[in-house]
Amino acid sequence: MRIIALVCSFCGYASADMAGVTGQSYPASVVPVRMPCTGRLDVSHILSAFRNGADAVMVVGCLEGNCNYQYGNIEARKRVEQARGILAQLGIDGERVEMFNIASNQGWRFAEAVKEMEGRVLRLGPGPVRR
Ligand code: FES
Repeated sequence: MRIIALVCSFCGYASADMAGVTGQSYPASVVPVRMPCTGRLDVSHILSAFRNGADAVMVVGCLEGNCNYQYGNIEARKRVEQARGILAQLGIDGERVEMFNIASNQGWRFAEAVKEMEGRVLRLGPGPVRR
């Protein structure tokens, strides 16, 4: 199983780091990919992840109102919704992609988010390429 986590360099990455530092256990199937801000996210990044074998994609940004670039995480949520629409047209369940807003000190929430996505993949089966 492969879950791609597109994390912003601030809270997203820090929450993943905090999960490790605080000894939270979460599935090893997650591959964090760091980006300056989730506002940099493009729908093509999500589609590319699936094309390259991802079973699920999670986008992890700062809490709403806490983005270091003001509205990056708000824009990212819109793009996740757009990606879901495109995936649906391709016959791929939109539940395979999700946006999470997690504070830098919430390592436990990052771990929970990964477990949530793993549960979805177990329920939905392998991603479109590995099917
Ligand atoms: Fe974290 Fe923008 S810097 S979402």
